[in-house]
Amino acid sequence: MNAFVDTPPSHDTVLRLRGLRAGYGAVEVLRDVDLDVAHGEIVTIIGVNGSGKSTLLKTISGVVKPWEGVIELKGENLVGLGVEQVVARGVVQVPEGRQLFGPLTVQENLELGSYSRRGKRGRPAADKMEEVFELFPRLQERRLQHAATLSGGEQQMLAVGRALMAEPRVLLLDEPSMGLAPLVVKEIFRTLRELNERGLTLLLVEQDARIALSLAHRGLVMERGRIVMEDGAASLLAADIQSIYFGHGGGRTDVTEDGHEKYPVVREGD
Ligand SMILES: Nc1ncnc2c1ncn2[C@@H]1O[C@H](COP(=O)(O)OP(=O)(O)OP(=O)(O)O)[C@@H](O)[C@H]1O
Ligand SMILES: [Mg+2]
Repeated sequence: MNAFVDTPPSHDTVLRLRGLRAGYGAVEVLRDVDLDVAHGEIVTIIGVNGSGKSTLLKTISGVVKPWEGVIELKGENLVGLGVEQVVARGVVQVPEGRQLFGPLTVQENLELGSYSRRGKRGRPAADKMEEVFELFPRLQERRLQHAATLSGGEQQMLAVGRALMAEPRVLLLDEPSMGLAPLVVKEIFRTLRELNERGLTLLLVEQDARIALSLAHRGLVMERGRIVMEDGAASLLAADIQSIYFGHGGGRTDVTEDGHEKYPVVREGD
């Protein structure tokens, strides 16, 4: 399934983390994280529940303030910037659980994604929306439908589409495969690969190593807030990292037969 070679197409560092520490209250979660992501690369961070994957993405996107360390986008400091300022510079997160506005339509959710300085400077929202609809034709069919009425897969497409409306240079994805049937995951990952081939850099967090490594160029294993292993995606796949590191065959505990979701969207009255 992996069509990529281990080495990324370019070695220009776009995202650079050094000695990153962060946590909640007095509890340290990220411990001295270093990471370089090259332009055009797909890097995946894999790790068990609670290892700090979401905290890492939230710290990069400005949701969680780092205690210490360096976060740079093309050499420009991101530490201390708010979420909107980080988005304006081109680092956009597709959050864990999608976090859509259920009572709003598909189109309205997409329009909200365009709200950023980068977006204003960039192309008209209508043009960007057309591109999202080309990538995900099902969203176009459902453009006037409320987000809450979409299937889990369509909601994930909408979450990715909304992030694309902000014209990212680096897209951060937190468990996009969560709760989705394998075929739907395949469809979404095919689109992510297409976006990468057009030059978008991806940092992808997943619990399911096999799924993530089938898309990525490179994988890192996170354990208790530290990066404990790093290699080319193909090597990690060949080494069967899923069984070695996570002690099971890759079956997900959060997927149910009917595609039930761990994270429902925000509904009216919530
Ligand atoms: N808002 C918060 N307040 C306090 N502690 C938190 C908060 N969010 C996460 N934590 C704790 O930080 C640690 C890392 O959590 P994080 O969500 O980053 O892990 P994760 O690798 O994304 O896990 P999962 O695979 O379940 O999504 C966990 O011990 C978690 O309980
Ligand atoms: Mg998480």
